[in-house]
Amino acid sequence: MSGYNYTVSNSKKLLLEAEEISKKALGSAGAWKNLDEIKSQENKTLGRKGSITSILKEIKNIPPEERGNFGKSLNTIKVSLEKAFSAAKEHIMNEELRVSLEKEKIDVTVPAAKHSLGGIHPLSQVQRKIEKIFTSMGFSILDGPEVDTEFFNFDALNVPTDHPARDMQDTFWMSKKSNDSNQNTVLRTQTSNVQVRAMREFGAPLRAIIPGRVFRNEATDATHEIDFNQVEGLLIDENVSVANIKGVMKDFFSAFFEKEITVRLRPGYFPFVEPGLEMDLSCIFCSGSGCRICKKTGWIEFMGCGLIHKNVLKNGHIDTDKYNGFAFGFGITRLVMMKYGIDDIRLLRGANMGFLRQF
Ligand code: DAH
Repeated sequence: MSGYNYTVSNSKKLLLEAEEISKKALGSAGAWKNLDEIKSQENKTLGRKGSITSILKEIKNIPPEERGNFGKSLNTIKVSLEKAFSAAKEHIMNEELRVSLEKEKIDVTVPAAKHSLGGIHPLSQVQRKIEKIFTSMGFSILDGPEVDTEFFNFDALNVPTDHPARDMQDTFWMSKKSNDSNQNTVLRTQTSNVQVRAMREFGAPLRAIIPGRVFRNEATDATHEIDFNQVEGLLIDENVSVANIKGVMKDFFSAFFEKEITVRLRPGYFPFVEPGLEMDLSCIFCSGSGCRICKKTGWIEFMGCGLIHKNVLKNGHIDTDKYNGFAFGFGITRLVMMKYGIDDIRLLRGANMGFLRQF
């Protein structure tokens, strides 16, 4: 008998025990659902304190003549377990990869999801069209303040102090005075407020349009809003005549409506022009033969214009011995309503998507 603690039968017992452990572990392989489960099994058996590892540690206590066999057999068990664990891990990883690839799979034949794109508001569409036509005729596009002084909105434009437009009923007066001039300030009632600003900044000759928002203290109804859009036009040069207004506007309206438009002029009063004129367009719906829209007259009253008053040119620091000019102003809002047959002005600022999607 050797002095070792283990007899031959003991080493066999250990091997049997190891086989048992391995069988049990491998038997449960089908139930391993994820990497964690596999790793915990692996740890229990082959880990530092694992059952197989502790049997392996017993090798030093096995009698030398048994050791070779014991070691070999135990190693076979260990290797088969290692193989089983790594195969199981690989399988799980492949499976996880397959599932995630499956999830990420892109079917390029599926119709694209519909994005709802915004649209351009009809007021902006029409403004852009106006700008395009005027820039093609050599006009620049200018901007100006929506809150302006009483001077630029009224006085500089030769509007008499007692003119009814200055009344509380028509104009939103601001409670704060201008920081620069201590003038009263207003929400501009007309884009004409930029006329004198433009003259002072750019001088003559000058061709410019000024599209923008204007404000009136109105009771709102189907044809009145407290804010709407206008475009102002200015042409300052030598020897400008009423014929020039007529020619430029006829060309503009014909380009805008994409058909021949006739214009006619009537006298009208605006303090900033002399002579002051009203321009009518041949009816765009019946081409002048008479319909419901033009009330059988064949004409649509459309805008104010005229030759710029000398006082206004002087306020703009223009040399009136050399230069004169014409000015006009009309409602972009009105043009949009006419073009699309919109009968209620409130729809344009109503943010009603059903209405707006039509444009
Ligand atoms: N500013 C005027 C208005 O709001 C429109 C207008 C009329 C502008 C005659 C002009 C003009 O430049 O010459 O009613």
